[in-house]
Amino acid sequence: MPNLLAVSDLHVGYADNAPFVEDIRPRSAGDWLIVAGDVADRFDQIVATMRTLRDRFDTVVWVPGNHELWTLPGDPLGLRGVARYLRLVRALRDIGVTTPEDAYRVWDGEHGPVVVAPLFLLYDYTFRPAETRSKSDALAVAEAAGVLCTDEVLLHPDPYPTREAWCAARLEHTRARLDALPADARTVLVNHFPLVREPTRRLRYPEFALWCGTEHTVDWPVRYRAEAVVYGHLHIPVTARIDGIPHHEVSLGYPHEWDAPGALPRRVVRVLGDGGGA
Ligand SMILES: [Fe+2]
Ligand SMILES: [Fe+2]
Repeated sequence: MPNLLAVSDLHVGYADNAPFVEDIRPRSAGDWLIVAGDVADRFDQIVATMRTLRDRFDTVVWVPGNHELWTLPGDPLGLRGVARYLRLVRALRDIGVTTPEDAYRVWDGEHGPVVVAPLFLLYDYTFRPAETRSKSDALAVAEAAGVLCTDEVLLHPDPYPTREAWCAARLEHTRARLDALPADARTVLVNHFPLVREPTRRLRYPEFALWCGTEHTVDWPVRYRAEAVVYGHLHIPVTARIDGIPHHEVSLGYPHEWDAPGALPRRVVRVLGDGGGA
């Protein structure tokens, strides 16, 4: 029986991650693979890696991470924000990868039918410490803790004025699509950032949660009848049940993180399938 597998944060710019990527293989004929963002920083590496995975799996579903959206100095495309995102969507569609801009695919394997919904929602600085009253307060606290996210320099929101404005637009667009699903449709919700705040409590520096999601999605797993939620970004690969729904963080992350004290094993997660499922 086919499986619905998931992985994220392959960061293939790190050569030591190559053996892990090489081992991402179907376990059965017809397996699907979810890739939940942060494949690489460079456009060419993102597309090449996704092509490799697309060639191995029946269906590959992708959402962008923050790293896909960075515009690095000297980037040959020179595209920022929405333009960069849409160029990526086009390139990945061309090789047969399902993106957040495509019709949602329906998993008809074990535990199906389930709508697999790749979401691109970004973050809006609402996951901030309770003692801070505004984004600027929270940014000052994060900066003092030495955890200012590189997105502040490299992830441009153009043509939106801010990343939170881009996030708000993505939330509105995505909510409309999910609201249009049949009232009994079960889902697998895929987003680079966690949909609820609980996973960010495990961060070594909780101030970093600012760049990790939005309070506006905390009721989405229940509201949209999720069989499972798949996310990455935190580089803390763990499955936790929240409101009875498994939330799978499926990150590979950076090589130096694998052997850090308390590090959890890196793995490809079976979200649905033979022996898997919610
Ligand atoms: Fe990452
Ligand atoms: Fe990330």
